[in-house]
Amino acid sequence: MQIRDKVILITGASGGIGAACARELERRGARLTLMARNGEALAKVCGPDVLRIQGDVTNEDDRRRAVEETVARFGRLDVLINNAGVGLYRPTPEVDIDAVRQLFELNLFGALRMVQLALPHLRQNTGDPRGVIVNMGSIAGMLPLPWFTMYSASKWALMGFNEALRIELKHERIGVMLMCPGYVKSGFQDNALSGRPPDRLWRMKRFATDVDAVALALARGLERNRKRVIVPRLGWLAAWRNVFSWPIDAILAHLNERHRHGE
Ligand SMILES: NC(=O)c1ccc[n+]([C@@H]2O[C@H](COP(=O)([O-])OP(=O)(O)OC[C@H]3O[C@@H](n4cnc5c(N)ncnc54)[C@H](OP(=O)(O)O)[C@@H]3O)[C@@H](O)[C@H]2O)c1
Repeated sequence: MQIRDKVILITGASGGIGAACARELERRGARLTLMARNGEALAKVCGPDVLRIQGDVTNEDDRRRAVEETVARFGRLDVLINNAGVGLYRPTPEVDIDAVRQLFELNLFGALRMVQLALPHLRQNTGDPRGVIVNMGSIAGMLPLPWFTMYSASKWALMGFNEALRIELKHERIGVMLMCPGYVKSGFQDNALSGRPPDRLWRMKRFATDVDAVALALARGLERNRKRVIVPRLGWLAAWRNVFSWPIDAILAHLNERHRHGE
């Protein structure tokens, strides 16, 4: 798909990966709608021509407004990027069930409702593909991470939704792309609903992937009609867990035990 002149709606675009994607896609000539709750931060992303929707992806009125105002302003919708997401670092025995519901409300149900609202508009386009849905998954949806089990579960669910949806929409010529970033330098860890990652990981953040690298990979993935984009490329190793689950799970369990004991 050529990005120039495409109408693209990005959720969670006030910072981090979403804002980087907005800048990259604007640079390539896309017409953008950016959605997030923090209007002040949103105002600083991209130039004057973008449509900004201050709204919450877990709120039905806000979701409808984002899609309807996009179509009213630009006349159509070509790409939906379900990027907004949040983390939750709590051991399963003590995790607050309301926090888990909040997590799934954004990471899965918010994305699902955005897809349902966007689909009638994507269907009206001509071309091949008619439109694309991008879901922001995570390596944590390929590799189970025991220090944020519920987050892993939410991304695993999003990944299952993404894969089945791609097959469901195949004959309608609507593409579905899964983004799987690894550890990325953003405010994600600080913005988690509760808890924090293991100290070892926290200290390794300086080696994490830059948000601009994720944005570049997403733009290239769209241009090449990719089904799945893993960034950094080393993240493909996570796929090996299907073969080498025993040693990989043992390493993850060891890391998590040290985290639990504050080491
Ligand atoms: N950072 C990582 O290591 C990493 C790795 C793999 C995958 N991911 C995924 O990448 C996506 C973006 O994460 P990030 O690293 O950019 O995190 P981030 O820096 O915390 O940014 C999250 C973005 O989502 C928005 N947001 C949060 N809750 C929202 C809601 N209810 N409604 C609308 N917008 C909401 C935030 O803006 P407001 O607060 O203004 O609403 C912000 O713009 C997430 O889906 C995350 O799971 C991140």
